[in-house]
Amino acid sequence: MNRDDERVRPVRRLVRGQETADGAGVRLTRVIGTHQLLQLDPFLLLDDFRSDDPDDYIGGFPAHPHRGFETVTYLLAGKVEHRDNAGHAGVLQAGGVQWMTAGRGVIHSEMPMQEQGLLAGFQLWVNLPAAQKMVQPHYQEFDAAAIPLERREDGVELRVVAGKTSRGTRGPVTDLATPARYFDVTLPAGTGFSEPLPAAFNAFVYLVEGQLDIDGERLEARSLAVLGEGDRVVLEAREPSRLLLVAGQPLNEPIARRGPFVMNSEAELRQAFDDYQAGRF
Ligand code: CO
Repeated sequence: MNRDDERVRPVRRLVRGQETADGAGVRLTRVIGTHQLLQLDPFLLLDDFRSDDPDDYIGGFPAHPHRGFETVTYLLAGKVEHRDNAGHAGVLQAGGVQWMTAGRGVIHSEMPMQEQGLLAGFQLWVNLPAAQKMVQPHYQEFDAAAIPLERREDGVELRVVAGKTSRGTRGPVTDLATPARYFDVTLPAGTGFSEPLPAAFNAFVYLVEGQLDIDGERLEARSLAVLGEGDRVVLEAREPSRLLLVAGQPLNEPIARRGPFVMNSEAELRQAFDDYQAGRF
């Protein structure tokens, strides 16, 4: 199934998520954006939040700003209400995605719309190229029914959030300033998965649950494999597994980052804080 002239991407690094809290005391596992893995260009942060204890999530993320990048919230279980300072609001439900281009700036809240039960999902931050950091904020939002399911042999399933698979399934999120693929893959035990990725893209596999082998390396649940150079990812599930396969075009631009602002220079960061404090978001 692999062509002779293709190179399988090796595992360059294995990174374990770190338990932390953010927002108003939301407990989560941070996988990108820690000292172990500060970023993987163009990805700046990956959080995995998953709990059926309301104390872990009920505080939510009250009003906070963003500038200079995109936040991608993909929900597996529960409901989250979002509301921004420009009047945009809605409810993200299980299986849905919100791809928010913060651009020049939004102030928004992201609050659980439930007082009990499981809340689970991910937030990924995707950097914007310098020329797009100050665009008007905008959103792409899709519910579970709008995210196509690609069924492969042996019961392997892909939910295609963004980008196009080798078999032609296209995700609803399009026209990204930073080209990216975002696939949610479910594998029965003992099944394999193989998918080409553009050689120029940085890519990672985040194992949500189960156990995988990638290129001779064992990946445990809540761990991330940074993939090395090559044309194709090949992996095998040792247990029933669910993973995120995410890849993106690296920007190779300077990063000046503090809290919710990600710019290219210290001067732009200072401007972001000034604009926020002066109410110019
Ligand atoms: Co936010």
